[in-house]
Amino acid sequence: MSNNLCGGAQMPFRPGRVDAIEAGKTTGVPAPETDLEETLLFFERAGFDKVDAIGLTACGHTMGSVHHGGFPEAVDESFVTPNNTNGGSNFDATRGVFDPNVLGEYLNGTGTKGGPLVNSYNDTMNSDKRLYESDKNSTMRTLFAQGAGFLATCADLMGRAINTVPIGVQLSEPITVMPVKPVNVTYDFSEDGKLILSGKIRFLTPAGSSSPRSLTLRVSDDESELEPEAETGSSVSGRSGDAYGTTTYFPFSLSGPAIQNATSFSVQAPEVPEQTFRIDSQAFVVPSLTVLSGTALNATIALCTRFRSCEDLTVHIAAPLTQHGTLAPKINGMDVVVSKAIEEKRVCTLCRGQVILKDVPSGLVTVEALLHGKVVDTLLVNGGQAGW
Ligand code: HEM
Repeated sequence: MSNNLCGGAQMPFRPGRVDAIEAGKTTGVPAPETDLEETLLFFERAGFDKVDAIGLTACGHTMGSVHHGGFPEAVDESFVTPNNTNGGSNFDATRGVFDPNVLGEYLNGTGTKGGPLVNSYNDTMNSDKRLYESDKNSTMRTLFAQGAGFLATCADLMGRAINTVPIGVQLSEPITVMPVKPVNVTYDFSEDGKLILSGKIRFLTPAGSSSPRSLTLRVSDDESELEPEAETGSSVSGRSGDAYGTTTYFPFSLSGPAIQNATSFSVQAPEVPEQTFRIDSQAFVVPSLTVLSGTALNATIALCTRFRSCEDLTVHIAAPLTQHGTLAPKINGMDVVVSKAIEEKRVCTLCRGQVILKDVPSGLVTVEALLHGKVVDTLLVNGGQAGW
């Protein structure tokens, strides 16, 4: 998250990690006073050789500061000022930006000259200096020669660190961005009980290109031209250079014979190949009857085949909750027990249930309906709320 928000290179995200809920048996990171030999041993234990160790440390130390508050032996009291009460001494002149500056400043003696762990008044604490000099600055020079390519080296090194997981944890392939993505495209019932198909198509335009003025949506033999919403979003996924890509939303609501038994719909935009997505009019989470109010989530799933009962259905929810000390939410997963409602809609049985979440969610809640273990529909509740 920090890498992305501060302008680092894209880092592929591989899902499947498990949260660590306590510290590991071995101490994880070296301290500034740790000698070179032991420092390299820490890195080696994590699968990083000397060149990697220098690179990874330079990558980390393009951001942030060493604070007198925590490390008085490295940063003296003179750094404590009314505007810097913790006495932070920055690693490079651009503390909040993921850039190669730390390399040039260290090699050329400009800016902060490599920062507090190179120039500390107490040489014992100069761990960056010891590490960078351990091969006569050869790795630092190679990294500097990469220019902005240093960011990709960092994404690779940090990716290796992040993707080192305990035995038994299997990471999946990286999640890649979908340039065309249906958001909550699902069936619903209108107020007068008619079946409607509605939702939005989210379209990602890379930085530098303009978003399409319309999209073509095809359901069965019917074609509709979709108009964009005025409000757009910005996405790091479409980033090039310093600029973010634009996300444009194309909302729609259809009714009538074409949507009745559709099993798919397709979307076409200029210069993007037509893409087809699956839908299911026989089993779906009903958006207008699935509501989050405070911590109470009421979910309704419609089953429109005669051979299905609410007992065939499993409903999972996943709600992001704020956790102390990190920007990353804790995902609270739960099952909703559903039972047949007295009310029916058209030919559909309605299965209803409620769960009380541990806290008010900090973002979108996912409601997933499964028939005999197979996902048939997913709805994001509170879809208007961006991010998490
Ligand atoms: C030889 C190995 C390393 C040593 C001895 C070391 C030591 C330190 C120390 C003492 C601080 C100051 C903390 C504070 O005052 O708040 C710091 C900050 C930091 N380190 Fe390292 N570090 C090492 C390697 C790394 C690596 C491999 C990364 C990540 C890839 C990293 C990322 C950071 C970041 C982002 C900060 C800034 C924190 C802030 O501003 O609050 N460090 N490091």
